[in-house]
Parts: sequence; C-alpha cells; structure tokens
Amino acid sequence: MPDSLTTIIDAKTGKQFEVPQEMILPEHLSIIDSRTGKEYPIPVTNGTIKAMDLRQIKVSAEDFGLMTYDPAFMNTASCQSRITFIDGDKGILRYRGYPIEQLAEKSSYLEVAYLVINGELPTQQQLDAWIHNITYHTMLHENIKKFMEGFTTDAHPMGMLVSTIGALSTFYPDAKKITDHESRTLQIYRLIGKVPTIAAYCYRHRLGLPYMYPDNELSYTGNFLSMMYKMTELKYKVNPVLERALDILFILHADHEQNCSANVMRSIGSSQADPFVAMAGAAAALYGPLHGGANEEVLVMLRQIGSKDKIPEFIKRVKNGETKLMGFGHRIYKNYDPRAKIIKQAADQVFEVTGRNSLLDIAIELERIALEDEYFIKRKLYPNVDFYSGIIYQAMGFPTDAFTVLFAIARTSGWLAQWQEMLLDPEQKIARPRQVFLGHDKREFVPVEMRR
Ligand code: CMC
Repeated sequence: MPDSLTTIIDAKTGKQFEVPQEMILPEHLSIIDSRTGKEYPIPVTNGTIKAMDLRQIKVSAEDFGLMTYDPAFMNTASCQSRITFIDGDKGILRYRGYPIEQLAEKSSYLEVAYLVINGELPTQQQLDAWIHNITYHTMLHENIKKFMEGFTTDAHPMGMLVSTIGALSTFYPDAKKITDHESRTLQIYRLIGKVPTIAAYCYRHRLGLPYMYPDNELSYTGNFLSMMYKMTELKYKVNPVLERALDILFILHADHEQNCSANVMRSIGSSQADPFVAMAGAAAALYGPLHGGANEEVLVMLRQIGSKDKIPEFIKRVKNGETKLMGFGHRIYKNYDPRAKIIKQAADQVFEVTGRNSLLDIAIELERIALEDEYFIKRKLYPNVDFYSGIIYQAMGFPTDAFTVLFAIARTSGWLAQWQEMLLDPEQKIARPRQVFLGHDKREFVPVEMRR
C-alpha cells in the first residue's frame, strides 16, 4: 500500500476516490532530507519550485523550515512576467513576443512603450490617442524649474534626474491611488511625457542656458532634441536621421525584464508607494556603473586607452583583474547582446551625419581583440548594449555624464510596465527577503567605561 492516500472528488459526479499522492501530483521534485530520512514531493511548475514549499522541510516541530539562500538573485525568479523574454544563451530579446530586431526596424519608441505597458500593439486610433496623451503631459510645473535651479552647475545629471522625478511625487498627490486604473494611466502619461523635459532641463542647467519648453508639434525624440539644443531659432530643425537613431536607441532600452532597476521599481512599488518615488529609486539603481552607468564608463575607458596600439596593454590589465572591460559581460547574455548588434548598425547612419567618431575605431579593435582572447571566450563575455551606445550619443552631442539619463528616458516605459504588472499580480505582496543570520547570539550590554 502506498504511504499516503489523497481523496479527490469528481466535480461532475460528486464521487470520491482514494488515490496515491504521487498520482495526483503533477511534475515534481522529490527531496529526501538526509537529517530525517523523510521524503518531500515538491511540485515543479514552469521549471521552478516554490521556495515556500521548502518551508515544510523541518528537523523538528520548532524548526523554522528550510529556506533558499541566493544573494544577488542568481537563480531566483521573483515574479511571473509576460513583458520581456530573454534567452541569454541564444542572444534573443523580445517585448511581448515581438523580436527586438523587428521592433527596432518597424516601430517607434512610443508605439513600443504602448506595447510594453499594455501588452498588445495599438491600433492606429489607440496609438494616436496614446501619443496625444503623452505629448499633452510634456510640460513641467514652473516650480519644478525653480527646484532644479537649486542644483549646482556641476551636479551630475543622474543625481538631478533622480531627485526631480522623486520631487514630482509632491506635485501629484493623486498618484497615491495606485489601485485606480485611471489614475495609474495618468501617472504613466505624466512620467513618459515629463522625463525627457527634465532630462533636457538638467543639460541646459549645467550650461547656464535658458530652459526650452516642449514643442508638441515634434515627435517624442524630435522634441527632446529640440529641448536640448534649440537656441535662438524660432523652430528647431530636427535632423531626421538623428531623430530616428535616437528613437531606435530608446526602443532597444525600453525594457529588459528583471534587471537591477526593474527589481527596485517593483520592490518600492510593492510597498504601495506612488510611481514617482518608485521610479526615482529605479533611476537611482540605473545610475550605478554596473548597470546603466556603464555607457558613461565605456567612454571614459576608451578615452583612457587613447589609441589602438594601447589596447593589448589595457587587455592585460583587465585579465590581471586591475580593471574591467566596461560594456562587456552580462548576467543574462552569454552571447552577443542583440541590442549591441542593432546599435552598431545604427552607428553607421549617425556617423554619416555627424562624421566618424575616432573612439569607434578603438572600440571596434577592442571588441575584435577581446572576442579572440581566451579570458573573454571562457567567461562568455560579449559586448553589451552599453558598449556602442555611448559612442553614438557622443557623436550626437550628448555630454558623457548624460548618457545614463538617455537610458532612463527609454527605460521609463519598462519600469512602469513592471510596476503595473506587479500591482495587478495577485501573488505579489510587499517584497521582503529573508536573511541567514550569522551575527552574535544574545549578549549582555556592557557600560562604556567597562569596554576595551
Ligand atoms: N571585464 C572583465 N571581466 C569581466 C567582466 C568585464 N566587463 N564582466 C565579467 N567579468 C568576469 C568576472 O571577473 C568573472 O571572472 P571570474 O570568474 O574569474 O571571477 C566572470 O567574468 C563572471 O562575471 P561576474 O561578475 O560574476 O558576472 P555578473 O553576472 O555578476 O556581472 C556584469 C554582470 C554586467 C555586472 C559584469 O559583466 C560587468 O561588471 N560588466 C561591466 C559593466 C557593464 O558593462 N555593465 C552593463 C551591463 S548591460 C546594461 C545594463 O544592465 O544596464
């Protein structure tokens, strides 16, 4: 006789059956606890086991139960998602099922933003309304301008962006209604609409130039370029090649599943904070040199290398662990990052307008040498999205420390999609990891005069 029988009821007939548990369990993993000899069937769904199913594995009734230990989420899915799919070994990236290559070729950033957030490509009517609503929200409250005037002129643009996005929370207290679909949609329009305006204001503030108001007759990227570079002319003349190249770069950066900043967006959002403060946190995570800050670091690195003949010496330093080859390597991609391929193609079109950037030759040679080197081959280190994006941004006139801001503009749609998906997921709760406590056991307080 099997050890455990389970009663199941036929919903149609109401009849009851006693069946061995193994028979009703779907795919499962059997864990035998060597401490007790007990066997536990743990269901396997979508290639995962639930960490909470391990809690039943105990040595005694007082035992808390088994936990998993996974610093940096190396092998833990924190959510179920339907937004972005990545196959890191094959170099595949899809938003809502659509290959990134097709979207970069045929779509626009705002259309992709709609897709990423709403799950489907819009009809023409939906797209027009979406663009209209976002464009309607490009203006900033005049007090935001005053707030930004308080930054020093050498303030890092990402520091300014993070603080200003957070400050928006105080202007839109209605954003707290996170369970209200209409309110969420309004905040989405506001954030996608206003982030480029803030980004351009950051740039102009540093140069002491007057802030340029949005021109709502222009496209999303055309307007951004206008707010950045317009001087005394009545209307900024957007270069269509640069406008399209920037749009492609924005498409490529729109989302990237559960990366560091998306995880922050979800984590802050899980406490039911409003999307402005949640996104300020996500943008802060993006700022770090291991995440979105890498595009800035690539330029610094290429300038430091200075010329092609210095590359072997630099590679030697990387292999000795003295420095990193910035723009190389990825937690998920163990193959060429598909975004880097598309960016490399877009670079040629941009350079036809702006003239060739000398750093490109160093980057191409650096990539060639690295991809032939045993160190990089063994570790499956390939160029990532940041390796070439900075070179294009520089050619388009963006200052190096503003590169991550460009990344943030594009990633706004992804963060909002991740945030909304988290809010609508009935399995999600406030994010609160466990710890393995290895500190002191209880000890008595020692008065200061008795301490050594
Ligand atoms: N240069 C030299 N060695 C590297 C690099 C690099 N760029 N990246 C990884 N390695 C080595 C690393 O030292 C380790 O070697 P070993 O096994 O001998 O200790 C091995 O490769 C595995 O690396 P890891 O640090 O365990 O990998 P990770 O998944 O924790 O880190 C990463 C991923 C992106 C943080 C890392 O590859 C890195 O620091 N790259 C440079 C920064 C960068 O370009 N970041 C942008 C990422 S893409 C855009 C984004 O996400 O925002």
